[in-house]
Amino acid sequence: MTKLKEIYKCNVCGNIVEVLHTGAGELVCCDQPMELKVPKTEEGEGYEKHLPVITKTKITVGSNLHPMEEEHYIEWIEVIGENFHCRKFLQPGDNPEVEFKTDQEEITAREYCNIHGLWESKN
Ligand SMILES: [Fe+2]
Repeated sequence: MTKLKEIYKCNVCGNIVEVLHTGAGELVCCDQPMELKVPKTEEGEGYEKHLPVITKTKITVGSNLHPMEEEHYIEWIEVIGENFHCRKFLQPGDNPEVEFKTDQEEITAREYCNIHGLWESKN
């Protein structure tokens, strides 16, 4: 059984999918179940930071900006409100940030690092 907005990854071929409609079945890719990516919500020790930082009109990845190198970068950032869900895809060399405009008070931000996976924070 899947849930809306869950992220799954195939650990064989690297496919990543997001659930847009809940279903009863198990997601399978390359003949094995896909892994549910549970967002991390707390930082560990170290310089590199992953948690999205939410301000009134911008989301930035990391209180110390996350690297955006060929081998290690933020693939996308999502802004999720009660009735909308927006994603900006990023490339190495881009800034790890997205600007947005909404009048909603409660925002959830998620980002996906190609090495360290899925991270989430709420304002
Ligand atoms: Fe990372």
